[in-house]
Amino acid sequence: MDMVKIFHMTGGIGDASYSSNSGLQRMGIMKTKGVIEQTISDLCHMSNLKYPKTLVMADLGCSSGPNTLLVGSMVINAVAKTSLEMGFKPPEVEINLNDLPTNDFNTIFVALQELQVNSTDENHQPKCYFTGVPGSFFGRLFAIESLNFVHSSYSLQWLSKLPELEEINKGNIYLSSTTPESVCRAYFKQFSKDFLGFLRCRSKEVMAGGRMVLTLAGRTTEDPRGEESNQLWGPFAIALQDMVFEGLVEEDKFDSFNLPQYTASPTEIMNLVKMEGSFTIDHLEIFDLKWEDWKRNKTDNDASETNDHSVGEAVTKAIRAGGISQLLANHFGEEILDDVFMRYGKNLTDITSNKKNKTVVSITVSLTRKI
Ligand SMILES: C[S@@+](CC[C@H](N)C(=O)[O-])C[C@H]1O[C@@H](n2cnc3c(N)ncnc32)[C@H](O)[C@@H]1O
Repeated sequence: MDMVKIFHMTGGIGDASYSSNSGLQRMGIMKTKGVIEQTISDLCHMSNLKYPKTLVMADLGCSSGPNTLLVGSMVINAVAKTSLEMGFKPPEVEINLNDLPTNDFNTIFVALQELQVNSTDENHQPKCYFTGVPGSFFGRLFAIESLNFVHSSYSLQWLSKLPELEEINKGNIYLSSTTPESVCRAYFKQFSKDFLGFLRCRSKEVMAGGRMVLTLAGRTTEDPRGEESNQLWGPFAIALQDMVFEGLVEEDKFDSFNLPQYTASPTEIMNLVKMEGSFTIDHLEIFDLKWEDWKRNKTDNDASETNDHSVGEAVTKAIRAGGISQLLANHFGEEILDDVFMRYGKNLTDITSNKKNKTVVSITVSLTRKI
């Protein structure tokens, strides 16, 4: 399976799109607003550099929808505010929006016209230039030392490919308490290779003193087989397993389907940053996002009551919009999609009514390119 060729979120702005089902990720980005603003302020204040005429940033794995422009507007507003405080003309801002080639870049470009920047002083509004950059962030995307700031949210947990597994991860599609040791090791090996490759590429592209703020789905525990890793994917594996029992999915196909993602721990991330050696860690924080926020935050005006049924439904829609449909269709064929997502929704509704407060663990790390 070639992630670069097939992986993408559901495009457009319709009910099934990532754009309409990414409220939880939006909550996550909002929680990192302070870190992003502080980073931009620090960059503008860097005493050993001349105040930059242009601030060049990249948002890696930007997808399409309101979240794509959210970070850009945070940066633009932070530049406007800091330059006003410093009494400088604001630098021009170049925003490079990156994702895999099959991402819906057209929807982004249409939405760019509506970008609202709420600056306190119109004269301090920086001039902005946007560019779409298709390609994998596990390879080089930008010219050497051309970036001041890199942001990425909820993208780096996706691997460049499925790990090579020596054993079958029986009954699972991700890591769970029944996953063999060797499978966990293979997952971590692939994540390490990808994350180190990502850091190596960015170490070339980010100029000395430049910054990165990376937010990724992760875990709090050192053991990757804990409940946190399995709460979204365990019910999915059960849905597929039931379809195997009913003869709707071949057992071999189920056995060979695993998700190309890894939810790392803070220690794993810190160790890999240290091992690569080009960046220092300024700040690392962990926070929880509640599954309910996929429902509550779907639209700002959605005042409907949050019940267990709707949480299960909202999570199902978000997961379906979030890239897994392409992986399933590629492996099993498109015809299973409606059935498997219907079963998944039921399983999620059952577990959300038994046990509340299911969460997605997020890790934000802020890094500086060593001088
Ligand atoms: C869950 S979305 C996050 C989108 C947005 N940053 C947000 O926070 O809402 C993950 C995005 O990462 C992108 N992605 C995954 N692997 C990638 C890679 N190797 N290179 C570039 N983008 C990638 C996916 O295509 C997808 O659009």
